[in-house]
Amino acid sequence: MGIFNHPEFDHHDSINYFEDPASGLKAIIAVHSTALGPAAGGCRRWTYASEDAALTDVLRLSRGMTYKNAVAGLPFGGGKSVILAAEYAPKSRALFEAFGRVVDSLQGRYITAEDVGISVDDMRIVRGETPFVSGLPQSGSGAGGDPSPWTALGVFRGIEAAVAARLGKDSLAGVTVAVQGVGHVGLQLCTLLHEAGARLRVADVNRDSLRCLHAQVPAEVVAPRDILFSNADVLAPCALGNVLNSETIPRIRAKVVAGAANNQLASAADGARLTERGILYAPDYVINAGGVISVAREYLGNSTEEEVRSEVCRIPDRLQQIFADAESSLRPTNEVADELARRIVAQGGNGARPGKPTAGRLIA
Ligand code: NAI
Repeated sequence: MGIFNHPEFDHHDSINYFEDPASGLKAIIAVHSTALGPAAGGCRRWTYASEDAALTDVLRLSRGMTYKNAVAGLPFGGGKSVILAAEYAPKSRALFEAFGRVVDSLQGRYITAEDVGISVDDMRIVRGETPFVSGLPQSGSGAGGDPSPWTALGVFRGIEAAVAARLGKDSLAGVTVAVQGVGHVGLQLCTLLHEAGARLRVADVNRDSLRCLHAQVPAEVVAPRDILFSNADVLAPCALGNVLNSETIPRIRAKVVAGAANNQLASAADGARLTERGILYAPDYVINAGGVISVAREYLGNSTEEEVRSEVCRIPDRLQQIFADAESSLRPTNEVADELARRIVAQGGNGARPGKPTAGRLIA
């Protein structure tokens, strides 16, 4: 199949393949759109079943970033990168230096940050090679650093909004939430949910993640194969994508699906399947925008943590609007959100476009 006929191509601006035999780097950087500004989106390091699986993932993720940045009101386009990791291959400094060089070679058309499989320390190495990176700790009260606490906060506030809309409850006290994946975002989300009085059911394929959770929050552990079908009010997918599909949706018992994972729907039609079952779906790229709000504000270099917090706390307002529009137009929430995102991109966003950063603007 040619790339232009790829089902996920969607008129990408560019798709860039890189190989650096010395470090073992194999990476794809997909730039979906620069209509609103440089393409911003994280880097994922993953062992893919095939090169085609990696391509499909990066294309879907980069389009999602265009939509996420647009709906969040950020002056950035959408892009994403994946590093194809060989099974059990360790990370190395040379790998991230090579990745930093390939990001730099795009001269600011793509700005990277952390995603699954990438830590703040990895991004510090990338920063040694390029200024086109965000998600690094800042000094003082400046916005920046690990985006996952902001993602967790936005998802938490989004769950509150979805529970209010679908279950008519103004508190999460006594509400049961099933969380799939308790990594960076899932763990912090569980802490916020616990503090709000929610009951937790959790699953993770990694025992270390579960151990870490148990040290901080009480939760019932469910087998990974069962978590999507838990007897819970809310399902919060916080692991990987494609979990909502024609096989899983008929078995979901929760009335609300609201979580951090990108690309939760295997296809747009799965949004309609959820609606038909009376399940309220919080579009993933709307509810999980907290992290990119933080990395965007860090990159622009003009915001405090408090400003990021207040911007993240606007996520529930956007969701409420989408829920209301979906209800009044009898359409699935994902369709309403996609339409909103495309409209913002077509209109050119808010017009504030970031310039190219100078090398000294970001603090590693
Ligand atoms: P992470 O890698 O720290 O955590 C993911 C967790 O899910 C890991 O503990 C992993 O063992 C677990 N997991 C993987 N497959 C599983 C399965 N089948 N069943 C149960 N658990 C499983 O990743 P992170 O940063 O927490 O991100 C989670 C999701 O949220 C990803 O889809 C990511 O793209 C998305 N996201 C993350 C943001 C961030 O700020 N970190 C921002 C926006 C989206």
